[in-house]
Amino acid sequence: MNELRDRPIRSFVVRAGRMTAGQSRALEELWPRYGVEYTAEALALDELFGRSAPRTLEIGFGNGEHLAALAGAYPERDYLGIEVHRPGVGHLFMLAAANNLTNVRASQHDAVEVLREQLPLESLDEVLVLFPDPWHKKRHHKRRLIQPPFVELIASRMKGGGVFRLATDWEEYALQMLEVLRGSTHLFTNLSPAGDWMPRPEERAPTRFEKRGARLGHGVWDLAFRRA
Ligand SMILES: C[S@@+](CC[C@H](N)C(=O)[O-])C[C@H]1O[C@@H](n2cnc3c(N)ncnc32)[C@H](O)[C@@H]1O
Repeated sequence: MNELRDRPIRSFVVRAGRMTAGQSRALEELWPRYGVEYTAEALALDELFGRSAPRTLEIGFGNGEHLAALAGAYPERDYLGIEVHRPGVGHLFMLAAANNLTNVRASQHDAVEVLREQLPLESLDEVLVLFPDPWHKKRHHKRRLIQPPFVELIASRMKGGGVFRLATDWEEYALQMLEVLRGSTHLFTNLSPAGDWMPRPEERAPTRFEKRGARLGHGVWDLAFRRA
């Protein structure tokens, strides 16, 4: 086997990233309360959250501010986050503890593997992919998350009627998202009446990357699809 050639193409590079003392302590101390261990076995989500409630998954939540805000605003729903960047997970845990949140959990692992191995079929009511890494260079486009196999994987873990929301500040990636989802009409229906973009959801707390894009003068493209 050629290990280099067979290495999977990942949508991220794990940056060493400095952790603040607070993030590091939060990760260690709050892991038992909020952390989801990676194992190649299906998760019992009702057990994980201690109840059965509508469930949102946010993939690549960054520093977790958006996810924590959602969990605080909708205590009747449960929120699962997946993020490979350790300091971001620590930051989410700090926010969760400071706001005494009981309806949020997070995994620090590749979302592709968590979805494939740990999330049961038809278990999610909503999936969010907000400002995923755009991988600007053409030779890196293969690393982009939003491609047909990943969208099919997401669809398989969603309940019928569930909503898949995406946003990006990179127009060319927005067009790719639209094209991929347009190729999945057996799985998803575009919620945009014109069949393209949605207005920016007013209730969305701007994410860190959304704010950064705004500073750079980027536009924002929002998309939303209903699972068939
Ligand atoms: C551009 S950032 C956006 C973060 C956040 N959503 C925001 O808007 O501020 C993309 C994030 O996705 C994470 N990410 C990329 N691929 C991932 C994967 N396969 N599994 C989990 N996290 C991933 C990266 O670590 C990074 O934090």
